[in-house]
Amino acid sequence: MRVLVIGSGAREHALLLALARDPGVSALMCAPGNAGIAEVAEQHSVDASSGEAVTALAKEVSADLVVIGPEVPLVLGVADAVRSAGIACFGPSADAARIEGSKAFAKDVMAAAGVRTAHSEIVDNPAELDAAIDRFGPNWVVKDDGLAAGKGVVVTTDRSVARDHAAELLENGHPVLLESFLDGPEVSLFCLVDGETAVPLLPAQDHKRVGDADTGPNTGGMGAYTPLPWLPAGAVDEIVNTVVKPVAAELVKRGSSFSGLLYAGLAMGSNGPAVVEFNCRFGDPETQAVLALLESPLGELLNATATGTLGDVGELHWRNGSAVTVVIAAENYPASPRTGDVITGSDAEGVLHAGTKVVDGKIVSAGGRVLSVVGVGEDLTAARDDAYAKIEAIKLPGSHFRTDIGLGAVEGKISIPN
Ligand code: GLY
Repeated sequence: MRVLVIGSGAREHALLLALARDPGVSALMCAPGNAGIAEVAEQHSVDASSGEAVTALAKEVSADLVVIGPEVPLVLGVADAVRSAGIACFGPSADAARIEGSKAFAKDVMAAAGVRTAHSEIVDNPAELDAAIDRFGPNWVVKDDGLAAGKGVVVTTDRSVARDHAAELLENGHPVLLESFLDGPEVSLFCLVDGETAVPLLPAQDHKRVGDADTGPNTGGMGAYTPLPWLPAGAVDEIVNTVVKPVAAELVKRGSSFSGLLYAGLAMGSNGPAVVEFNCRFGDPETQAVLALLESPLGELLNATATGTLGDVGELHWRNGSAVTVVIAAENYPASPRTGDVITGSDAEGVLHAGTKVVDGKIVSAGGRVLSVVGVGEDLTAARDDAYAKIEAIKLPGSHFRTDIGLGAVEGKISIPN
């Protein structure tokens, strides 16, 4: 099977490395890719948001399967275009991708499916902002109603911070979503979904704030670990049965059947799981850790999802132990990351590339999240040690990373409230 992966992040690098381990995959191509991806897949350039361009490339490279990594092409209907050309595609239709692209649609689907989520209101008129803010908080949760790669979210106990963020979004023409705060530790559960069939991967936890001890602004994700030692046995089944399957069934009922990766972001509160958000694709940086433990052939799984035979794949196989991703970010990330710095030591096993490119034969930074370093080990402590040992060999001027990825779980400080 010849597989073309669309995207250029560490998530796509992780997908390609896992696909390369599948004996059923004969050729790997990626577009647009990055400096690290070029080592594992044939690299092509493409306008990833154009269905026409991605389809033309898929035909040119004789792809049997196209895997679309990021949400923007999915929301724009790139998977629909590829499928219309008769090529199998892993990724939902534009219709189904609204589960991520429109928070209002996601809330409506959840309400109809009886799935617990935060109470919310959309504000699109600045004159209504103050009254709406007063109906929430503290804590205030203020989100951009469109796609914002995690950076449009502010969670704060300070009313003026919440108001300022909402006002700035409105000034820039973005409707604002205000939400009630959900307590409890967060879980990212990725499920392969094909209509009403859902197959969960290992549960993971992301670290969204930029600084240690969850300080500083939200980012696209600074690190993740899997599995979750504090999550009770049976919780994954509970999430699949009370959250993922009802939502998948509701999408089928609406004629927007989902095919691809449905990512449930949940808060594990005292009353059970509640949805913080859905995404229509693999999460970043959780994917880098989750796929490091996957032993089942990824190409076969993605192809089965894309071709409507997910129900036949049986139980997934996982390596024992834990995996940790630590993101190395550029100076000034997330505000205004500096790019163009030379990186050394980024070619070791477990070092996945995101914002990198080759200039004059050197690897340089080309984005905010530059590298994802993945450690594995027999437990979370060993996986953390592995990741942080690998980081010592990497040099990127001005870069920063969190030193506490997975540490709360190792120290037994994470628990579900009673
Ligand atoms: N881990 C956050 C995201 O992928 O959106």
